[in-house]
Amino acid sequence: MTERIDVVELLKAQHTKIRELFDEVANTKGEERKQRFHDLVRLLAVHETAEEEVVHPFARSNIEGGELVVKDRIEEEEKAKQALSRLDDMDPDSAKFLDEFAALRQDVLAHAANEEEYEFAHFRRAADRGKLENLARAVQAAETLAPTRPHPGTDTALKNVAVGPVAAVIDRTRDVVRKAKG
Ligand SMILES: [Fe+2]
Ligand SMILES: [Fe+2]
Repeated sequence: MTERIDVVELLKAQHTKIRELFDEVANTKGEERKQRFHDLVRLLAVHETAEEEVVHPFARSNIEGGELVVKDRIEEEEKAKQALSRLDDMDPDSAKFLDEFAALRQDVLAHAANEEEYEFAHFRRAADRGKLENLARAVQAAETLAPTRPHPGTDTALKNVAVGPVAAVIDRTRDVVRKAKG
């Protein structure tokens, strides 16, 4: 029997993966850094879009002060997406990239900590396990179309679609999540 993951466990695991990818981008160079950065763009775009479509709407109506908590988180996410788009157009080995990347890393990690403390920490009191498992499934649906890492043997054309510009990844993820929500 497979254990079902609830949305808090899933989002925290994604935050850990995001932290690891930030480290990998910082600790590599050249082509490898480029690839790790594309992985990060994809994971962040998928993660934040799924939060906006599935997780924040739940928080807004189910936790105390949800409206305000979510408003602040969405502002942080908008800022991060803009920074991500700017970085996507830069040479990953340039000084400008490294400066902006360091700022983004700090902002995104603070954002994730804020979500865990002010938002997700209240979920288990707000809903039962079944509901939180359903939310996790909707977040996971976002990952199926925009995989966070290309699968081995994936052809190049497909890979290029998957890494595409930030806005395209966000749009595609939004479509998938909305369909999954039905
Ligand atoms: Fe977020
Ligand atoms: Fe998050």
